[in-house]
Amino acid sequence: MACMVRLLQCTLNGRQRSDAISDNLLLLDYLRETVGLTGTKTGCDGGECGACTVLVDDQPRLSCLTLAAAVEGCRLDTVESLTTDGRLSAVQRGFHEKLGAQCGYCTPGFIMASAGLLRRNPRPSDDDIRQALGSNICRCTGYVKIIEAVKCAADLYAAGVSP
Ligand code: FES
Ligand code: FES
Repeated sequence: MACMVRLLQCTLNGRQRSDAISDNLLLLDYLRETVGLTGTKTGCDGGECGACTVLVDDQPRLSCLTLAAAVEGCRLDTVESLTTDGRLSAVQRGFHEKLGAQCGYCTPGFIMASAGLLRRNPRPSDDDIRQALGSNICRCTGYVKIIEAVKCAADLYAAGVSP
């Protein structure tokens, strides 16, 4: 069956966009190939690893399982949205200061899932953090440093750094 083309309108990283897309275009491919934002990573391409996590209206979403057409009219945030005038966000600083990244491939997904958590729950417990990051996999390391990074980010957020 022929694929339909539609106009997608959304707010991406604070800016309004209109793009002609095919109905079956994945959000991950829209971000990386149509828009050219490659911070969002392709890992498993099947909903298993969380590397492709972005925020849709502040909720973490796996972009490899989401059609771009489904974010019509939504607010979409990728990892590229977090740095403001060269200043790292609280979550980015937390991962940097607590050594929450090794190879870094999974890190954009962890960072966006963590940013979504802090927007919903600025003072998460360890269990809250584990639950929020339960869909994200890191193949390099254990998760202790990552949990420390999110706790550090929560402290920075409480001190006024944007999440
Ligand atoms: S690439 Fe989307 S969950 Fe792995
Ligand atoms: S830091 Fe390498 S996969 Fe997580």
